Amino acid sequence: MNDNFAKDVLVGLTAEYKHLSSKYFYDDNGSRIFQEIMKMPEYYLTDAEFEILSMQSKQIFEALKFSKPFNIIELGPGDGFKTYKLLEYLVNQKVDFKYLPIDISQEAIDILSNTLNQRLPELKVEPRVGDYFEVLSDIKDSDSPSLLLFLGSNIGNYKTDQIIELLKLFNDNMKLGDKLLIGIDLKKNPITIHNAYYDKHGITKRFNLNLLLRINRELDADFKIDDFDFYCHYNPDNGEVKSYIVSLRHQKVHIKKLNKIIDFEYNELIWTELSKKFDFDEINDLAQRSNFKVNTNFLDCKHLFTDSLWEK
Ligand code: AVJ
Repeated sequence: MNDNFAKDVLVGLTAEYKHLSSKYFYDDNGSRIFQEIMKMPEYYLTDAEFEILSMQSKQIFEALKFSKPFNIIELGPGDGFKTYKLLEYLVNQKVDFKYLPIDISQEAIDILSNTLNQRLPELKVEPRVGDYFEVLSDIKDSDSPSLLLFLGSNIGNYKTDQIIELLKLFNDNMKLGDKLLIGIDLKKNPITIHNAYYDKHGITKRFNLNLLLRINRELDADFKIDDFDFYCHYNPDNGEVKSYIVSLRHQKVHIKKLNKIIDFEYNELIWTELSKKFDFDEINDLAQRSNFKVNTNFLDCKHLFTDSLWEK
């Protein structure tokens, strides 16, 4: 894990166009900063998805058309705050199902199961820690139908080819008739998107610069945070938000554990994140290319976001 981080930092910072992967944002500090992002009114994604899952639980359940007890498998549930409303609805309706959250963090899973046990004592929870696909292939052998949840617009972080690869892997690990509910952020007024990512509070800037602090700590480097800034840009032509760290001067950074000195030009960029937005044609196209049929798009009232229900 740590070795991968070291290797990816080395590759990314010695490339012609420097880059670091946003998957490394989420150390303990970064996860806390992401919680702050989700609380900002400008970051509409969380509120929109929460609204969908709390206001349309009934419609989502009815669209599943499962005729026997089923599984709800959630990939990367985080604090489970959004899913809670859906689970609560199903428990109150005395629907027969099991909830299987899968996360790589033991700590996240422990906290989530404790909260759920306290607040929904009748809910059957079978938490799993580990790699998504190991757990998924286990579940393929069960004869109950399954609903897979992949919420929060996480697919926006991948390039299209990688998205297709990931969705095909999901598909391979599902049975005929199984469903996937996938959170996707929609193209919209570019100003709304700009304000969500280039936030005036500077929280997203802290989220990005935290990656340099992580490199300082884990790889014994000497990044001076004040000599770097944050920039991001939404391109409405292709739906891509791209985020960068900017070097504010010509400077050298020593990364001791990599035994490497990295040279930064004045205004040189490190690309850190892609957060892609989609329209409905693109969503249909993704589904088709990964062998799914689109069943229903569940939208929030402002049509900012969709939880798209797909069927194998
Ligand atoms: C958690 C990947 C969905 O791309 O919107 C928030 C992360 N980055 N603000 C996103 C993020 C900047 C977020 N995802």
